[in-house]
Amino acid sequence: MTQTMEQQMDWMNDAYSQALIKINRLNEKIGASFPHVCLDGNYNCEDASFWTSGFWGGLLWLAYRETKEEALRETAELIEQKLNVPLQQFYDIHHDVGFMYLPTSVINYQLSGNEESRRMGLIAASHLAGRFNLSGQFIRAWTDRVDPNSTGWAIIDCLMNLPLLFWASKEENDPRFKQIAVAHANTVLKQFVRDDWTVPHIVSFNPETGEKIENLGGQGLGPDSAWSRGQAWAIYGFAIAARETGDQAYVTASKNIANYFLSHLPEDKVPYWDFRTADKDKHVRDSTAAACTASGLIELSKLIEDETEASFYYESAIAILKGLYDNYADFSDGQDAILTKGTVSYPVNRHVNVPIIYGDYYFLEALVKLRGQQGLF
Ligand code: GLY
Repeated sequence: MTQTMEQQMDWMNDAYSQALIKINRLNEKIGASFPHVCLDGNYNCEDASFWTSGFWGGLLWLAYRETKEEALRETAELIEQKLNVPLQQFYDIHHDVGFMYLPTSVINYQLSGNEESRRMGLIAASHLAGRFNLSGQFIRAWTDRVDPNSTGWAIIDCLMNLPLLFWASKEENDPRFKQIAVAHANTVLKQFVRDDWTVPHIVSFNPETGEKIENLGGQGLGPDSAWSRGQAWAIYGFAIAARETGDQAYVTASKNIANYFLSHLPEDKVPYWDFRTADKDKHVRDSTAAACTASGLIELSKLIEDETEASFYYESAIAILKGLYDNYADFSDGQDAILTKGTVSYPVNRHVNVPIIYGDYYFLEALVKLRGQQGLF
């Protein structure tokens, strides 16, 4: 091994083992709950129906797969029991069931064969499929309870829910779930992806006729901007759609959106909250977009035959992770989270430059992929 490779292994091993220490400590502190953002060093707690409720359970399973620590599995199973409540209750559930049930129920089922976990995964997939708008060929985002104007809205984030449909099709040997995933991904290719390979957060359609009305800024700066987490969801989401279908159009989209993302990163490799932000707001960063993109780039690199090109995306993932490790990781006892400076929504000043649970999730997910873990989403 060359000295450079050894040095690289050193920081990756350190990041990984420090992350595991944090997760064990957090498990003792918060147990089966639903952390979202970390304020003054302590993770808050949301309802089980909140879209981020799968990430803490997901972190526990990622760590359990490596360490086989029973205490981690026990908490993850308690979390899953709590996640069953909104699934049965139905009204508070939404398009983000992939984020919620893939890293919890589906992972549990894959590891243990637990029939109840499989059932929960399939109910969640059926819910997601049931949100498909036939006229517009998209999966509807949110519910009228969140926003009564959202009946015709699709969002870029939803690409990350599609692996639940791909999984359900394989599990049930029934192509319908996959057909819906492909139809939605094709609509995103056509209606979201711009000529400069950026995407908006929201596209609004006429829910009756399916005609596109307009782009909306959502959590980004505006309809024409490039919200960095939205670009991250697109890079990773299209890579997964390509992995599941073999369709090269998704590889092309993932690569080109990644090229935009990588070529607009600041020196420390963590993007501004929106790539088109004003200079005065460039202090607002989003470490979650960096972590999610790193994990997505590892996925993308596996789909590319050309070795030089594949290694460009793989090495870019490592460079982002190193940037996070060097400047945005906090492994001290006084802080529940691992990564600092994620941003939920700058336009409404909601949780700006704070640690966020999905930043930690994608950071560890990327690290364990580099250690060879397979079968993640
Ligand atoms: N899916 C919502 C977000 O990325 O903030």
